[in-house]
Amino acid sequence: MKNNLLNLILLAIGLYGCTENEVFVQEPQLIPIPQSLERTDGYFELNDQVYLVAESFVEEGEFLQKLITNAGVKEITDTASKSIRLEKNEALSDEEYTLTIQEKDIAIAASTSKGIYHGIQTFRQLLPPCVEDASCNEGSIYLPNLIIKDAPRFGYRGMHLDVGRHFFDVEDIKKYIDMIAMLKMNTFHWHLTEDQGWRIEIKKYPKLTSVGAYRNETLVGHYNDQPHQFDGKRYGGFYTQEQVKEIVAYANGLNITVIPEIELPGHSQAAIAAYPHLGCTGEQIDVATKWGIFEEIYCPKEETFQFLQDVLDEVMELFPSEYIHIGGDEAPKIRWKQSDFCQELIKKEGLVDEHGLQSYFIKRIETYLNSKGRKIIGWDEILEGGLAPNATVMSWRGVKGAVDAAKQGHQVILSPTSHCYFDYYQHDGEEEPLAIGGFLPLEKVYGFEPIPSELNVEESKNVWGTQGNVWTEYMPDYKKVQYMAYPRMMALSEVAWSQKENMDYLDFVSRLAHFQERLDVMGINYANHLYEVHGNLPNAQEQQTFELSTLLSDKDIRYTTNGKQPTKESPVYSYPIPVGKSVTIKAAVFEDTKQLGSTFSQDLHMHKAVGKEVSLAIAPNKTYDAGGKQALVNSINGSNSRFGDQEWLGFWGDNIEAVIDLGEETPIKEVKTRFFNANGQWIYAPKALSVSFSLDGKTFDKAQHVAISKSDDSLVPVTATFEPVSTRYLKIQVEKYGLIPDGKQGAGNQAWTFIDEIHVN
Ligand code: ACM
Repeated sequence: MKNNLLNLILLAIGLYGCTENEVFVQEPQLIPIPQSLERTDGYFELNDQVYLVAESFVEEGEFLQKLITNAGVKEITDTASKSIRLEKNEALSDEEYTLTIQEKDIAIAASTSKGIYHGIQTFRQLLPPCVEDASCNEGSIYLPNLIIKDAPRFGYRGMHLDVGRHFFDVEDIKKYIDMIAMLKMNTFHWHLTEDQGWRIEIKKYPKLTSVGAYRNETLVGHYNDQPHQFDGKRYGGFYTQEQVKEIVAYANGLNITVIPEIELPGHSQAAIAAYPHLGCTGEQIDVATKWGIFEEIYCPKEETFQFLQDVLDEVMELFPSEYIHIGGDEAPKIRWKQSDFCQELIKKEGLVDEHGLQSYFIKRIETYLNSKGRKIIGWDEILEGGLAPNATVMSWRGVKGAVDAAKQGHQVILSPTSHCYFDYYQHDGEEEPLAIGGFLPLEKVYGFEPIPSELNVEESKNVWGTQGNVWTEYMPDYKKVQYMAYPRMMALSEVAWSQKENMDYLDFVSRLAHFQERLDVMGINYANHLYEVHGNLPNAQEQQTFELSTLLSDKDIRYTTNGKQPTKESPVYSYPIPVGKSVTIKAAVFEDTKQLGSTFSQDLHMHKAVGKEVSLAIAPNKTYDAGGKQALVNSINGSNSRFGDQEWLGFWGDNIEAVIDLGEETPIKEVKTRFFNANGQWIYAPKALSVSFSLDGKTFDKAQHVAISKSDDSLVPVTATFEPVSTRYLKIQVEKYGLIPDGKQGAGNQAWTFIDEIHVN
């Protein structure tokens, strides 16, 4: 199925009984890929000779009718002889459908509206992209005869959107829901309350929106850029209850469940700014103007519970969903530690500590919601101090929360940062727009397996599904949301819907290239990295070579090694490029004379340790070890802004000790490297670096010590220079920063250390 963007099957057949015409039938290119698809001979000609039969599914029929009209069938002739039917088939399960296309008849069958909608969405993807904006020419469209039988792998297939950090209007939310439906996902998790803005009208507490929905200004640039700068502009907005009803009804019309999230006890600074008595200090505070985790959280007083119950009463009126998301994440306990009231409550209730108090808080809210016939979902912190009895856990800090909760018999949703955070960078090109950090390329999303390997067959039945999260600190408008969400959402839709055995990344990519034509017509601003060049430096110790590749193999890569922009005249890449000295390689994908993607650029810095053997006393943390230990000496520096790339290695709470074997006695006089320093993300430059030398790899001496001073810069270069020494082995020891100080993000936790290429000269 590779390279089938233009894979149009040419059928030469006789039409109208006299002349011979050529008919183009587009082969199916569906996302998510269905459970089974059998292509049969022939095709269905969609034109004004077709009529629709939809008595069993009237509303769904209207949706289908619109697609057919958009396909150019404006009127149906009286003598129409071909049918498109929506049929009830009680034998099919809840979301299952079948789609059969024959010469004179198309049938979509399901037992429920959900199934029928899925079938119609599949039919939609068989139609050309022009149906999306009703720009199809009049005339026939030829659809391939086929039989599709399809049903989802997971029951929960969600997409989240944070409207607290930035606010998106009703029409944008509807567009987001449209895409959820198109990809056969079924849940919109609407993150409505945050430190930086409360976004839902609550009639009983008008200040939640008159005060809590607006902040005085907003951080400019990245949180890691120091000192912090602000735009000085008031920012905000909220959804009225009428607008909320409109959105919920719209989603319902597409069989999408909307689950509201009302964050508690943390991420509640905007609510406390509106009603200061909800906090433990009672002091007036402002709606937050920068990103991060804030110490002002709800105080577990009776009046706070009354407030939250009142809020949830109005929320339940607006949202019919069985589940209400109550947050539960990132709630610093400092205010509770300082509060006499909280300390007494801990004693009175026989709780162990503040984590026990958090558990008490969540359980009370759960009891209330359960009494109203609703259930809670919470982020995995709700496990701390004891899980509420009926809670569903949304696991985001890795999969451990999901594993622990599923083993305790709780339902879980997998949404780990490693595979489901679409606010992370998706490409390592320097021209990529600002993102929160991390690195989550499309292929990694596609490779996600939602059932953790730690679960046995019985426990894995508690895995309800998966969800992609879109946190919007760095997404000031909806175009940016689209860029970050698509196409990673397409990949996750397939993870959530499709059977593992049908999934293949290159096949997905070729279907995606086709799907992107539809997104173009829909005016959607998606990220397109299909035509990018990827570089790889195999660890050849003697003969250094550099490899280039791109996803779609029918395109040429052209490259230069003199730092100049590649053009249609540059050599076509066909075998690894030899590199004996420092060099800049630039490359791009070309179709004939036209450059398709962006220009790839890679500096290779040759030094005495390039390609030499490295050993590490302690391995990097698994989540930041993409390039492996040899990334320390592969001649490639890490990105200046992305510590999550292939080149930086991340260590959490460990000192670093690396030994490099230069292979033979070698004169050296300098060792230099860089450390990342992004305190907002718990990353700190270390305290010190030392280098020592050995001829036998056992006894190291002549240690050179460099103290590293504190810095606000996001990159901290460190150089050890010394009298020339002849050595075979050198040991580099890095003393970690240690515990993050009070008042900083992640206070009390171990800081991360990120180290870059170790240059030896
Ligand atoms: C989260 O990302 N704080 C759930």
